[in-house]
Amino acid sequence: MDLSHRVAVVTGGASGIGRAVAAAMAKRNVKAVALVDMSESVHLVAEELNQQAAEPFAQAFQGNVVDPQFRAEVYDSVSARHGLVSLCVPAAGITRDDLAVRVDRISGKARIYPEEHFRAVVDINLIAPIYWALEMIGRIAEDRTARGLKRWHPEERVQGSVVFIGSISSAGNRGQISYASTKAGLEGAAATILKEAMFYGVRCSLIHPGFTDTPMVRKLGPEYITKNILPFTQLGRLISPEEIADAICFMLANSAVSGELWVDAGWHASA
Ligand SMILES: NC(=O)c1ccc[n+]([C@@H]2O[C@H](COP(=O)([O-])OP(=O)(O)OC[C@H]3O[C@@H](n4cnc5c(N)ncnc54)[C@H](O)[C@@H]3O)[C@@H](O)[C@H]2O)c1
Repeated sequence: MDLSHRVAVVTGGASGIGRAVAAAMAKRNVKAVALVDMSESVHLVAEELNQQAAEPFAQAFQGNVVDPQFRAEVYDSVSARHGLVSLCVPAAGITRDDLAVRVDRISGKARIYPEEHFRAVVDINLIAPIYWALEMIGRIAEDRTARGLKRWHPEERVQGSVVFIGSISSAGNRGQISYASTKAGLEGAAATILKEAMFYGVRCSLIHPGFTDTPMVRKLGPEYITKNILPFTQLGRLISPEEIADAICFMLANSAVSGELWVDAGWHASA
């Protein structure tokens, strides 16, 4: 599937992996990228990306990915201007790390992981990416129906492609009960969409990045990274966001890819 002249939606586009995906798409001549993020910096990032590219391609949308009205507005706006969206990389994500159960040394009482943190992580990391993908698939399905097309046929070009961002934490990681659950949850969603959306000619796959050099990982602090991450990573360094973006573009473009790809720099968990 040739990415050139396609229209894309990338959430979490103001930072880390999302930003790198948008930059990588520009190199592959994607026509337009809706760069979605709740951070105000998304406007500046879009400006910077446009300055670095041969032609302006990024349009910033500031808002919360859990808001369905915002989601519809982004799709309405970008498709009215550039045509149907056919690439979706919903990369916005958060962590709320803590042990699942922690016993207070003095009181001896157990404190279990706060439910409100769990729900926030599920909303942003699991439900939102699924719905940003479904929004694209729904619009492709509607467009096909309007053109009298039914089941997609292999002689047609592939109509669209989704890459969800999982994580090595989907296999379980101490201190990440909510994050790991959402990333594992995306496996079920991707496998289901893979089965259903091909009716409309849309592919879906899932990447599991290892520890990548973004603000999400940097906030763990240099000491934590040196002690707990690098010794268990065969490459002995963090992965660059550009390496993950390159793998995502490969997954979007190569229509034979189905399922999951681990891009973890040889991560082998300690326990
Ligand atoms: N960095 C890693 O090591 C790593 C590893 C595996 C998976 N991932 C996943 O990759 C994705 C991108 O992570 P990153 O490392 O680039 O993180 P990051 O913190 O650099 O970027 C995440 C972006 O998402 C945005 N965001 C968060 N909540 C939002 C919301 N409700 N609405 C709109 N925007 C929101 C933030 O503002 C931020 O710009 C996430 O899904 C993350 O779980 C990261």
